[in-house]
Amino acid sequence: MADNTFHNSNSTSYLVLLDFFFCLLQNSPAIQENRVTTVQCLSGTGSLRVGAEFLARHYHQHTIYIPQPTWGNHTKVFTLAGLSVKPYCYYDPATRGLNFKGLLEDLGSAPSGAIVLLHACAHNPTGVDPTLQQWEQIRQLMRSKGLLPFFDSAYQGFASGSLDADAQSVRMFVADGGECLVAQSYAKNMGLYGERVGALSIVCRTADVASRVESQLKLVIRPMYSNPPIHGASIVATILKDRNMFQEWTMELKGMADRIISMRHQLFDALRARGTPGDWSHIIKQIGMFTFTGLNSEQVAFMTKEYHIYMTSDGRISMAGLSSKTVPHLTDAIHAAVTRAV
Ligand SMILES: Cc1ncc(COP(=O)(O)O)c(C=O)c1O
Repeated sequence: MADNTFHNSNSTSYLVLLDFFFCLLQNSPAIQENRVTTVQCLSGTGSLRVGAEFLARHYHQHTIYIPQPTWGNHTKVFTLAGLSVKPYCYYDPATRGLNFKGLLEDLGSAPSGAIVLLHACAHNPTGVDPTLQQWEQIRQLMRSKGLLPFFDSAYQGFASGSLDADAQSVRMFVADGGECLVAQSYAKNMGLYGERVGALSIVCRTADVASRVESQLKLVIRPMYSNPPIHGASIVATILKDRNMFQEWTMELKGMADRIISMRHQLFDALRARGTPGDWSHIIKQIGMFTFTGLNSEQVAFMTKEYHIYMTSDGRISMAGLSSKTVPHLTDAIHAAVTRAV
């Protein structure tokens, strides 16, 4: 793995952690050819914001398309950075899966050069990800239209339990030699939420562009927060660079992901055993931390009032918050919510 590089300029000094990006890209030609600029940022949110500020200043298109729905903070982060936010079709409430046709239509009619926000894996809030074949179609469409991919990778390892499998979408886009931005968070997959560890990487076409991008990124960062905190990032870098620690981390990550997957099966089996009306197979088809249950806001309010179960009003639950002990209570509540007379 690459060594950390400390970059010092007259006005700023901060860690540039290529190691962070190795987790996603490994030894890709883009890294070997020095076409990637990576700057440490304040977790995933800060990485998105720095990327957005950079694009608002230096990119010719100021429209960013974000999936509908998406993580609630995306709109605010991009709008406040000066980008204009538009939605593209993503989730189909009827199938509780991907509206792939709608997604292709919306991206197909986006203006050339527009920015497109893509969740690298474990889409928040739906838990619905494109298949690899669908990713390939998305890639071809975006490249043919010159759309600029901006990946948000907040949950690498949490979708499948494998860092490599969860990096496939990003790797696909980087492998074609085109440009892209990637915001990475180590908050969840390293359990370092409070340390705000993350990075923004910009993959460029040439090493020369990458070095100019880096100097512009410093100019974005300097007046916002000057330097990122060092200790959390050092923990991550230490683990990524030590073979044994890295192995231990990937095993723990898989343990976490497998537990979430097992919670999905337990909840699905319990609802089926209970005879709760509806097709609950989306619970086991969706991946990552979140399940979009399909429960509506009245049903959510009922479950909160009668069963003291708290979730977002769009029916999203965090599977990580469930345990074998709490599955029966949640099953009772869902059953009552969907069968009660209104
Ligand atoms: C899709 C998505 N992107 C970014 C973030 C922000 O991550 P961080 O906590 O590292 O700022 C989150 C966190 O909830 C998220 O769900």
